[in-house]
Amino acid sequence: MSSPTPAPIKISDHLYQLGTPFYPVYLSLGAQGMLIEGGTGGTAELIAAQVKMLGIEPERIAYMALTHTHADHIGAVPRLRQLWPHLKVMASPKAAAALAHPRHLEQFLPADRMISKILVGMGVIDELPPVLENYDFSVDVVLEEGARIGLGSGIEWHVLLTPGHSACHTSYYESKEQVLALGDMAGYFDPGREIIWPNYFSGLQDYCLSIQKLAILPARLAVLSHNGAVDLGARPFLEQALGATMEYHARLIERLASGEPQSDICQEQAAWVHSYAPIASVKAIEFLVGLLCKQSSRVVEQVAGAPLGWSAAPSLAAGA
Ligand SMILES: [Fe+2]
Repeated sequence: MSSPTPAPIKISDHLYQLGTPFYPVYLSLGAQGMLIEGGTGGTAELIAAQVKMLGIEPERIAYMALTHTHADHIGAVPRLRQLWPHLKVMASPKAAAALAHPRHLEQFLPADRMISKILVGMGVIDELPPVLENYDFSVDVVLEEGARIGLGSGIEWHVLLTPGHSACHTSYYESKEQVLALGDMAGYFDPGREIIWPNYFSGLQDYCLSIQKLAILPARLAVLSHNGAVDLGARPFLEQALGATMEYHARLIERLASGEPQSDICQEQAAWVHSYAPIASVKAIEFLVGLLCKQSSRVVEQVAGAPLGWSAAPSLAAGA
């Protein structure tokens, strides 16, 4: 028996959630349509089937806007481009450069296959997707900070470069419905357990600054690139994400400073994350926790190594 296609979820008048809850893709609809997120190789056919279920002509979907180039956020691009040759792929300058790198496919293909196996295990798809003859990841439109994407009917997306999760990360804000498409910018959130696993893989300071940059927007709704929409309002959620990040960082530093081997921390944290977020193998999550240890340590090293110019100055008390 084949797996049933999950029905699209209507989030607002102009926004649908497609794909699967673990790996969602959003469809914004004005006169034209735009997908936000690039899906996975295993969900490409599913996304196409969901668009059909909605009764939307694929020709109406003009764009696919990527949030970043991790494998679980770009995998459906080559297949959807085959199905819908008119689709224009949009991404930040750093994402476009990463996707054009000659070694990109070497990293993408095994990671995408691992995700497809997870989807088969979950019963979301029946079998691994066929290997394609050609994986076209070229970016048609490079999105700079502040760019606007008008879809008609008053729907307009604003581009915000938000490094920290990855150097190429991009978030999008839609001003008519006040929706913020965060990508992975706030970490991995489990709505059932209210847990946030902070994901500052490319830089802790960048990550915190990007969360703050998004928190000042008047968003009513946040849509995440794992586990769907957050209806508690974008700003409180982002405040929660920032608090969780600072706590996670402090705890990592405390453990590393106490002499606990990093490998033990990675194993323990990967087992914990995988228990509620089986979106990658335990080994892959261990690697990601290693990145968090590295980024947390880097911040401490920067502070410790910084010239303490003020220390030579007379203290306020002495000068008073
Ligand atoms: Fe990611």
